[in-house]
Amino acid sequence: MAEGLDKNSVVAVIGSGAMGAGIAQVAAVAGHRVRLYDTRPEAVGQAIAGIVKALARLVEKGRMGAAEADLARERVLPMRALDEAADAALVVEAVVENLDVKRALFAELEDIVGPGCILATNTSSISVTAIGAALKRPERLLGMHFFNPVPLMALVEVVSGVATDKACADTVCATAAAWGKNPVHAQSTPGFIVNRVARPYYAEALRLLLERAADPATIDAVMRDCGGFRMGPFELMDLIGHDVNYAVTQSVFNAYYGDPRFAPSVVQQELVNAGFLGRKAGRGFYRYGEGVAMPQAQAEAAQACQENVRVTHAGAHPLFDALATRLRDAGIAVTAADGAVPAFHAGGAIFLTDGRSATQRAFDDGNPDTILFDLLLDPSQATRIALARADQCSDAAWHAAVGLFQKAGFTVSRLDDVPGMAVMRTVAMLANEALDAVNQGVCSAAAVDIAMQKGVNYPRGPLAWADAVGLRHVFTVLANLGAAYGEDRYRVSPLLRRKLAANPDGARIHAR
Ligand code: NAI
Repeated sequence: MAEGLDKNSVVAVIGSGAMGAGIAQVAAVAGHRVRLYDTRPEAVGQAIAGIVKALARLVEKGRMGAAEADLARERVLPMRALDEAADAALVVEAVVENLDVKRALFAELEDIVGPGCILATNTSSISVTAIGAALKRPERLLGMHFFNPVPLMALVEVVSGVATDKACADTVCATAAAWGKNPVHAQSTPGFIVNRVARPYYAEALRLLLERAADPATIDAVMRDCGGFRMGPFELMDLIGHDVNYAVTQSVFNAYYGDPRFAPSVVQQELVNAGFLGRKAGRGFYRYGEGVAMPQAQAEAAQACQENVRVTHAGAHPLFDALATRLRDAGIAVTAADGAVPAFHAGGAIFLTDGRSATQRAFDDGNPDTILFDLLLDPSQATRIALARADQCSDAAWHAAVGLFQKAGFTVSRLDDVPGMAVMRTVAMLANEALDAVNQGVCSAAAVDIAMQKGVNYPRGPLAWADAVGLRHVFTVLANLGAAYGEDRYRVSPLLRRKLAANPDGARIHAR
């Protein structure tokens, strides 16, 4: 492993807004002398005042000693002119998101700093290669992409442009680790890792809403309570702001030459058109304000539970095993039944969604009483389960399925019968995007999982999740979504096909 920067070396931070202040705080706490600059001198004063407050809060909470906080504060020094960065070993730029401004800044800095100084940009959407292109020595420029709020978010994407020297990237990775962060290395490509791989989290939810699978409150609850995501997609988009989220989607879509994977949604465009930008506007998918209650997620009325449930092919899928255990723990008799496909039989046949709608599956199997359940992160802990019924399904079979899961302690939410349901479809698309990023050399499989857990708080890395669901099942879900929609958006990553062809029964992304 490469060595990070010497703790006694100077770090210059250019741009003292939200990100610059956070980066300065983290570098100072790690022991560096930090020089902080902004074209608006008052911004530097505000940033330092903010750092003082943040350090005081850490002391109050017992996370830092008072003496340590004082020393960290003393290490942050305001810079009056850019040439005071001359002794820096690392310069991190966090000015406005504008290519010309960033290029001009680095051109000036290049003549100020010493030959060993590394130049880093905190850009989240501009090509690192383009920012460095006009420099005399582009090999020492790279991306150091922090997440907001910097002191709390562990992820740093260390981004190499085409000309970046590997040794510089290694030094910055080691430095970020010494600052207590989780660095992941990425090649400069639109969205880097997180902003690319996260797109389906929003895009599939918007598609579900467009197709009236359920209302936002129900889809959010399913993603939280079944999928284990900290925030549902609609509440998250409301928090980010629809102007910002829509702009990022558009920028990634355009950067990939209109790849339908990244297509923006007319549903979100209309919110932007209306000025319903989310929390900051008092209205987005939800309304905000004094005394405004959040809408409740849909839940099925209580139904009676049948006494005896048969499980086909118990043990063929870990999700079925875990669910069967939970049913048994609730006093339901679960007995084995013949059959090649894992299913519960309680009135109708209950399957894990495979990307077909329940209606399609009922038709394919010649079994009208077909009910699907959505993916659960942890069947032993989930508080909710999402079910969908075929159009042909009888009320008796539906009520029996609802009663079964209610008896096992689940709140049952009904999704209308869209292919792939909510969690399964989202996780399959997140994993597919992650696989493409790995296949295209943007990052490693380990990096993408760390990035999504540390950068956007996913409960599990998408590739580890695909391993848990089974790569064969993920493939089937994507292929069925592709067949249902006839859209290139759901095309299967070549890496997934390759893994399954090489090892049809035991393919995995991560070694066990
Ligand atoms: P901000 O608007 O809070 O701060 C930018 C600061 O840069 C302002 O104080 C401005 O006066 C100063 N500035 C502008 N031009 C300058 C120049 N030529 N030289 C020195 N200072 C200059 O912006 P924020 O949110 O801190 O973002 C900064 C950068 O970090 C942008 O590139 C942004 O895309 C990126 N970023 C932002 C994230 C966020 O969540 N806000 C997350 C990750 C990256």
